Amino acid sequence: MKQSLSIVHLSSEMAPFAKVGGLGDVVAALAAEQVRRGHRVIVAIPHYRDLKLPPGWKLSDLSGIRVPWGMGHEAAKFTMAEGPTDQPSVLLVDHAGERHFFQRPGIYDDPATREGYPDNAERFLFFTRAALEAVKGFGEAFDVVHAHDQQAAWAPCFVRTHDSEDIAFAGTATVFTIHNLGYQGIVDPWVLGLAGFPRGAFYPHSPFEYHGRVNFMKVGILFSDLVSTVSPTYAREIQTSGEYGFGLEGVLRRRTGDVRGILNGIDDREWDPASDRWLPAHYSREQLDGKHACRRALALSCGFSLEPDWPVVGVVSRLVEQKGFDLFVAAERALCDLPARFVILGVGSPRYMEFFRRLADERPWQWWFGTSHDEALAHRIEAGSDLFLMPSRYEPCGLNQLYSLRYGTVPVVRATGGLADTVREFDPITREGNGFVFEGYSGDEMIMALRRALAVYGEPEQWLHVQRNGMQRDSSWRVAADGYDRLYAEALDRVGDGRVPTFESVRDSF
Ligand code: ADP
Ligand code: GLC
Repeated sequence: MKQSLSIVHLSSEMAPFAKVGGLGDVVAALAAEQVRRGHRVIVAIPHYRDLKLPPGWKLSDLSGIRVPWGMGHEAAKFTMAEGPTDQPSVLLVDHAGERHFFQRPGIYDDPATREGYPDNAERFLFFTRAALEAVKGFGEAFDVVHAHDQQAAWAPCFVRTHDSEDIAFAGTATVFTIHNLGYQGIVDPWVLGLAGFPRGAFYPHSPFEYHGRVNFMKVGILFSDLVSTVSPTYAREIQTSGEYGFGLEGVLRRRTGDVRGILNGIDDREWDPASDRWLPAHYSREQLDGKHACRRALALSCGFSLEPDWPVVGVVSRLVEQKGFDLFVAAERALCDLPARFVILGVGSPRYMEFFRRLADERPWQWWFGTSHDEALAHRIEAGSDLFLMPSRYEPCGLNQLYSLRYGTVPVVRATGGLADTVREFDPITREGNGFVFEGYSGDEMIMALRRALAVYGEPEQWLHVQRNGMQRDSSWRVAADGYDRLYAEALDRVGDGRVPTFESVRDSF
């Protein structure tokens, strides 16, 4: 394989430009590592109105294009953002049509209503088609088109259908990464016309049909050369049960030989307790004193007293069902009875926001709840907490347990997806293990895991072992990006052998 590849990522998020959850972190850090490895990398994202341009990045306008859209065209506008040389180029894709797909607040949801925009399917379909049109205009050939999640899921399909004759994609491999199967992009069949396919392509069990509708995620899974997801356990889970596959388990099983699990890494420059710009003090595995200062500052900023100095349990999360908040509700009384304090930072479902707001009002000495998206505070919670709780119902990978491990903050997690792949129960006899793990999705099991953790916390010497075991893990992208290099090599081999999906081959496989 060539040492240096030209790669285009398509994603709806990239930190810090636009981030809702881990997808933004992962795309940004993976792309940067690929640049460091000598690849040429472009990341295409929508040009949201509230995009955060990092300091030192420069914008330059590219010429606009009319993008095929149903029976007609829609105008797109492109801007290239360029930063330091160790960063990818970022192609900002805007819609210049009347409905202004991206010139509005928020990314997926309207912040005023907290509801998804009703035209999200059109917004992201347009983004995908327009991004590929822009790439075609660059006049160069690309080795890899890498699409992330349902918002970009049409890219592999377009590369193998509408754009298959274009010189830009003559030898291109397509890869589709599933970050979260809980969001699939399921829309009525009219969307197929906008995507440039005739109504005749829609019939029961066709690649474009999913229970009478169109499913973006299914299109991505079927048309990409290889499919990946963000941890080995999640790659298995989504093929084995409806609970994790959300109805696509059968489709994924059809491609079982082509599905890979590649564990995410973290940006270990952004997330480094020895140099983190958001922390009041710094520390490392060898010298943990600074962690005590971070902990004290966090407790005081939450209004907690230092007497009794109970351990602090942190949570930084989207407040959605996926993350296991039902278990907090189920175990409310038992949680309040624990000799521990809870610091929760999250935005999401009104139900959970009200729940945590009430607890913080009723028991301010024990519960603190912040409802904002606050990057600095997320870092301070990671550093200042003793334990980090992630009782997820499902978790494709999860980044916060990786941040926690690095920050000497001991994770208490449910054994699912990437949590199962990264956290091992601590054994006080062998002194192996880096956290506390429970299997069943139940409040009781969560409480028992927390009790085990608190018991070990009561023995400072043992606790130091758990912390240091976690801190020694290398979760950097320097390791994690190897998996993608291998994935690309495998996909390019298939392209070389002419073994790629086509409209006919996908259609006839049903
Ligand atoms: P997911 O992508 O499912 O939300 P991950 O664990 O992969 O879960 O990533 C979540 C990311 O979002 C982490 O970087 C976390 O710190 C961040 N995050 C979530 N909620 C907030 C918040 N309210 N403020 C700041 N960062 C947040
Ligand atoms: C998703 C998943 C999360 C994963 C992230 C980045 O949002 O919910 O588990 O870490 O994507 O891959």
